[in-house]
This record gives sequence, C-alpha cells and structure tokens, in this order.
Amino acid sequence: MAKLLIRGGTPLKGMVNISGAKNSALPIIVAACLADGESILENIPQDIDVYTISLILRELGAEIWFDEKKRLHVIPDGLERYQASYDLVRKMRASFYVTGLLLARLGKAEVPLPGGCALGSRPVDYHLKGFQSLGAKINIEHGFVKAEADELMGSKIYINRSSVGTTINLMLAASRAKGTTILENAAKEPEVVDLAIYLNSMGARIRGAGTDVIRIDGVDTLKGTEYGIIADRIEAGTFIVACGITNGELVLGNVVPEHLRSTILKCEEAGLEIEEGTNTLRVRSTGRPLSVDLETAPYPGFPTDLQQPFAAMMSIADGTSIIRETIFDRFRYVDELRRMGADIRVDRDTAIIRGVSELTGAQVEATDLRAGAALVLAALAAKGETEISGVELVDRGYEHLDVKLRQLGADIERIPDGEEDTFEEYLEGPLLESLSKMGR
Ligand code: EPZ
Repeated sequence: MAKLLIRGGTPLKGMVNISGAKNSALPIIVAACLADGESILENIPQDIDVYTISLILRELGAEIWFDEKKRLHVIPDGLERYQASYDLVRKMRASFYVTGLLLARLGKAEVPLPGGCALGSRPVDYHLKGFQSLGAKINIEHGFVKAEADELMGSKIYINRSSVGTTINLMLAASRAKGTTILENAAKEPEVVDLAIYLNSMGARIRGAGTDVIRIDGVDTLKGTEYGIIADRIEAGTFIVACGITNGELVLGNVVPEHLRSTILKCEEAGLEIEEGTNTLRVRSTGRPLSVDLETAPYPGFPTDLQQPFAAMMSIADGTSIIRETIFDRFRYVDELRRMGADIRVDRDTAIIRGVSELTGAQVEATDLRAGAALVLAALAAKGETEISGVELVDRGYEHLDVKLRQLGADIERIPDGEEDTFEEYLEGPLLESLSKMGR
C-alpha cells in the first residue's frame, strides 16, 4: 500500500482547478452503455473508481478508453455479457449501477451483491424493490443478484429514504422501460441531475431531476453523444476545508458554487471568508477556525462526504463542536485523529470535538476515501511529520490530490509501495495505458 509523508505547518496558497465529479462520472459512464453508438465524455476524473467501472464495463463487452485529450470514449455496441465479475464489483459499491444497465439493455443481470464497507452495512434493498416494481424477477444466490425481465414496465415507485444510488439505478433501468415511471422521494443531488441531463441528451425523457419526484417516460433507443460532467463538489469542499485548517488563501477554479451552498455556509461559520465567482471560489482563512455544530443530511443539506474533512478542521477549532452523522456509520477515522492529539468522543451517531491548539504528526491509516482526506488535512496542519497508509483509498475519489496540494505549497511526498514509482506514473502507466489500449 503506497503511503503519503506530510510535514505540516505550511499555509496553502494559490489556485487549484477542481476535477470532474467522481459521483457523476460513475453513473454517466454506465449510462453511456445504455445507448447505441459512441459517447465522448469530458471532465472525467482519472481516479481509481473511474478505472474500476471502466474495467467492469469492458469485461461486459464495451470499449472504453481515454484519448490524448483525456476525453473518455465509450462504445457500448459490443456489450453482450450480463455477468459482472466478483473481484471487480466487490471493490466499489457504485458498480451495482450495472444492474440497471444490464436489465435495460439485455433483460438480464448477474451482479455480485455489494458488500458493506468502512461506512457500515450498505444494503441495496431499495434498488431491488424498485427493479421488482419495474417487472424484474430477482433472486439472490451465492452472493449474486440474479435479475431478469423480458420487458421492463414503467411503474410508480416510492423510495423509502433519500438514496442517491437507488435513484440513479432506477433512472438507468426506467429510461428504456415501456411506459412511464415515477420515482417518489427521489434523491436531489447534483449528480442525479447531471445524469438526467446526459440521458436526455441521448434521447431519454426524464423530468423533475433535482426534485423529489422524477418522471421517466421510457424510450426504445438512446443515441451516444458528447457530454461534459459537472465539477466535484466534494473535492471542492475538501479544498475549502484544507484552506481553513492550514490558515491559507486559495482560489478554486472549475467549481459550481450553488452545489456547495451548505458547505460554504458552515465554513463561513467556522471563520472562513469565501467570495463566489461564476465558476470560482476565493477562500481566505482569518486565523484559528471557530467551533461549529452540524448535522449531515441529503442534498441540499451538509454532505456526509465532507463530515470527516470538516471534523478534522474542528479538531483544532477554538471551542467544542458537535457533529451528527445521519447517513452512514463513518467515524472510524476518529481513532486515527486521536493518535494526532485530537480530543474527540463519539456517542452513537454524534462526535463531540473539543478543539486543541495543535495536532502532532503520527503514523495513521486511511479507513475509507473521505477518512483518508480528513487525515491528509489534519497532517497539513499538524506539527511534525505524518505518515498516512492506505493512500489507494484516497486515490479512489481524488485525482492527483498530493500533486495539487504540493502545487499549493504543501510539504507532501508519495512513498510508492514498490509497484509503481509515483501516482502520475501509475496513472500514465498501467491505468491509462490499459484504458487507452482498449481504444480503436
Ligand atoms: C452515494 O452513495 C455516494 N456514492 C456516497 O459517496 C455518498 O456518501 C452517498 O451517496 C450519500 O450522499 C456514489 O455516488 C458512488 P445512498 P450511495 O444510497 O448511493 C441507505 C464517496 O465518498 N440505503 O444515498 O451508496 C444507505 O445505507 C461516497 O464518494 C439503504 O438502506 O448512498 C444510507 O444509509 C461514500 N438501502 C442511505 O440509504 C438501499 O437500498 C443513503 O445511501 C440504499 C441505500
């Protein structure tokens, strides 16, 4: 497992361009395989999760590759296998989106049941119930979901609680079903809207994305097209917090400020000065962060994916902060922050954080993607040297995070685990080469 070596204490300064949204890229790459003909996708982040979903779809028969301008080409015409392999799907829960794709395209899907992960158990019962409403027969055998439907029929589906994955998976399946599907209590995340806009640009008929009622009139065919995905609001939020925790001053480029409303408000409450441009944010720290209470919630509430980075900033804030996590069980990083001197107590779904004046460097381990990001931020502020293992987890959802931070003045070094020299070489090496090799 590669490691990051970080010597803290340098305020971050400069300009950073935010990459495309991982959580838009994954469903949109899958949706491209619903079409006939090639799609060319722009602003796709070159991170491990994009690599994984591309490998899964290639294994099913699609052709996927990055061109020299880093645009992702998807040609689904050869997609004819309906069995997704366990060893790839188990790596990433979003792989379960291929179920909606395969049911819509082939009328059949055999996909491993996604396991739990560091965020606790993450069932897919809402997904399966939705597919059954659309007329699919579902069996679970030997850890695989076996789904079949001669023809998917539109239906009215109430999703028990706001679920991004369920909303996306059912949109994929319903886009080519016969008749109309209504998704009630649908997720309103920007990534759901991005997917709907892309599907409509291919000929789908989806209305209401971004509200909690989405209407999908199924169509027979979709045509591949060109599309650019939205910026990653979670990466942008991570950099805003990185500015606050290091007492820095940053300009973020390629952002969508309205996707960050709750994050901006909470960071301003913590003392950050944030000036919005059309697609930029100018962020300035005004000294030691102030303590802030918050509760995570589905969009437009404070995003669960920024709970961990924000908690890292609160660990050095002036005062005590109460952070309640309502979506997942994701406090495992607290033990690692404690090793750096943080004073945090977790009581069920709530963390009580007493700000300390200084963290100290330590050896710590990333337990999930956003926990890894939280540890990177804590290390940037800590006195001395921190060694973070499990960097692959951070690479899953952040494109070149260490490179971007180094360009902002951070003293950060990637220690390869012997397999590849640096992340760039890994990316430009096996990752891109294999993805580009599959090209025409
Ligand atoms: C998506 O996960 C994101 N992943 C997560 O980001 C994000 O944290 C989450 O949405 C919430 O915003 C991707 O987009 C790839 P959910 P997802 O379905 O779809 C429960 C990251 O770091 N639930 O909205 O899996 C579930 O357990 C990742 O980028 C069921 O009970 O999340 C959770 O408590 C982490 N049954 C709640 O709903 C189901 O069938 C919301 O989960 C489905 C979900």
